[in-house]
Amino acid sequence: MQDVLPADRAYWDKVIGAAEETALLYAFQRLDVPIIEYTDLFERGVGTASDFFVQKEMYTIEEEDGDSFALRPEFTAGVVRAYVENGLNNETQPVKVYTFGPIFRRERPQAGRYRQHSQFNCEIIGETDPAADAEAISLALDYLRRLGLRDLSVQLNSTGCRRCKPAYVEKLRAYLQTRPEKLSPVDQERLRRNPLRILDSKEPGMDAVLAEAPHIVDHLCEDCAAHYAELLQILDRLGVPYRQNFRLVRGIDYYVQTVFEVWAEGIGAQAALFGGGRYDGLSEAIGGPPAPAVGFGSGIERVILAMQAQGVEAPQPPTPQVMVVHFGGETKMAALELAQALRAAGISTFFAFARERRSMKSQMREANRRQVRETLIVGEDEVAQGLVTVRPMDGGEQTAVPRGEIVAWLQQRAEDRR
Ligand code: HAM
Repeated sequence: MQDVLPADRAYWDKVIGAAEETALLYAFQRLDVPIIEYTDLFERGVGTASDFFVQKEMYTIEEEDGDSFALRPEFTAGVVRAYVENGLNNETQPVKVYTFGPIFRRERPQAGRYRQHSQFNCEIIGETDPAADAEAISLALDYLRRLGLRDLSVQLNSTGCRRCKPAYVEKLRAYLQTRPEKLSPVDQERLRRNPLRILDSKEPGMDAVLAEAPHIVDHLCEDCAAHYAELLQILDRLGVPYRQNFRLVRGIDYYVQTVFEVWAEGIGAQAALFGGGRYDGLSEAIGGPPAPAVGFGSGIERVILAMQAQGVEAPQPPTPQVMVVHFGGETKMAALELAQALRAAGISTFFAFARERRSMKSQMREANRRQVRETLIVGEDEVAQGLVTVRPMDGGEQTAVPRGEIVAWLQQRAEDRR
């Protein structure tokens, strides 16, 4: 788990800003879902053969009355539940929604892999057109490019459907069974349980083992083959670069047909900046109407790591314009009133807290460290004469400004700086 400190904020704001702008440009609407859901939603939605269950990645809360809740290990099941429960299937289809928020997975932590991470997630629900798959891919890619990221590679595959996938899995199993001695014990176990996962095995020597393995895209049924062919045609026509990767299989059960990821160079092993695909059966699996859909999730922390690795900067938020200093007693009260009046006028103001009278020097040191543009001094003389002494922090002349004119004076200074 990670803290997001004020110093990290600039990156978060930049990423979330770019994500939201891109989602709106593609005519998505925001839909937020709860952080906890019934565990059963994920059992039915993502499937118990998904990594979340097989590797016991979900954080669950067991209630005394027998209810079981889970901290969401992904967004999609919750978003589709919201679609079904709120009758969004009765609205104009497809429904295109985006969201942001924390996701929880009990994984072995390493750089770019956390037990709490945040995702930008987009779904297009109620659509079979491969143009929707292409739209999800281009949206995600546009968002990353808008951030200034380079060296991105779209990895694409089809995983077929209930009709064609099982026959392919058997072909793959048969191929691998001719080389059992080349498989590590981990992969031998996968061969028994879920041979598809051998395709993305990170065990050494797998490139050679899989060199002549059958590719699923050569074994698709007519529907899946047509869907995949049209998707490729659209991506080609739109100039969206991609690499077909027959080893791309994803850790979640619900995918059919299209699966994709975007990888960034230079951020180490956890290079996937987003992952997604088509999940036509999810709505029905959770008791909803048929609602073919496609979408993706993108890890915000990973995108920030990629920005930092590639030297992409994020603009630091502006520091407060002024700090108001005083010397206790009546000057403190007058300074508090001044600070409130400045804030009411939209001038970002830091008030110098002090239980006891503080020296001018100590307060000026603080103003310097806080990088304000002007320090406003409210001393006994200023209070008596209805003035405020302004000290510009860039070394300019100190000036006394009548209290009634200070707002306009500071607004003019801010204007001049623009
Ligand atoms: P996912 O590939 O499991 O897909 O996660 C999406 C993205 O979240 C990954 O590409 C990665 O950037 C980030 N991510 C995942 N796990 C971690 C982690 N432990 N630490 C940091 N970042 C992480 C899904 O979650 C699907 N629900 C995506 C989707 C939406 N498919 C269809 N619609």
